[in-house]
Amino acid sequence: MDYESNKVLSDYLLMHYGEHDQRMPWSFGKLAALDFPAQTVSYFTQKRVALSLDLGCAVGASAFHLSKTSGKVIGLDLSHLFIDTANQLKENGEIDYRFQEEGRHHIAATAKIPEGSVAENVSFAQGDAMNLPDGFKGFDRVHAANLLCRLPDPMKLLDRLPSLLKQGGELVLATPFSWSEEFTPDENIPQGDSWEWLQGALENDFECIKHADEVFTIRDHVRKFQLGVSKVSQWRRL
Ligand SMILES: C[S@@+](CC[C@H](N)C(=O)[O-])C[C@H]1O[C@@H](n2cnc3c(N)ncnc32)[C@H](O)[C@@H]1O
Repeated sequence: MDYESNKVLSDYLLMHYGEHDQRMPWSFGKLAALDFPAQTVSYFTQKRVALSLDLGCAVGASAFHLSKTSGKVIGLDLSHLFIDTANQLKENGEIDYRFQEEGRHHIAATAKIPEGSVAENVSFAQGDAMNLPDGFKGFDRVHAANLLCRLPDPMKLLDRLPSLLKQGGELVLATPFSWSEEFTPDENIPQGDSWEWLQGALENDFECIKHADEVFTIRDHVRKFQLGVSKVSQWRRL
């Protein structure tokens, strides 16, 4: 997976900002109606907070959703292309792109930031979630969706999480535990049940408030979709 390629960029623009009929035109694909970037953010309480962080934000939809209830939001991603695109969306409110229908046939679309977002309160930065700046602390909310199993050393992020959040702060993690040596060397892939492994890594510093399974889709072309099931969990910093 090359998060700097134009095909992956248009796949993610479609996943984050596409109309439902664009994301899933088939009536038998109803399961995929879910707006995953909004759905994971809905795991946070709805009270207003000062400062939120979206790790592995890609092209930014969840960061924009977070801005509806947060004074300031930082979206961080390793991909320069994704961060440049998220910044263009923030500046212009929308961006034109093309997604693949089939073969060489593409469809023109416009990605628009979600209604109710406060774009001027969102900033995007390129960076590595396994090596965050020392100044990153005091967050009320941290969101990391489908990031953990894309990291070479997921424990580096898990060990850093307690120091990112204020006491009582909220963490939402989503992960399909889609481990692959393309991203994570074998020695860093949990050997047993991944959910037990994740609970063990967080239980000293966080209380698990709720967890559930959520479906997400990434459209490759009109006849090919990636369907995933992400374990989404909400935690409170002790
Ligand atoms: C599977 S995508 C998920 C994107 C988005 N959160 C979502 O749910 O649609 C994984 C994202 O993590 C980013 N990523 C991968 N390694 C990263 C790292 N070390 N630090 C920050 N972001 C990273 C990728 O560039 C990509 O945007």
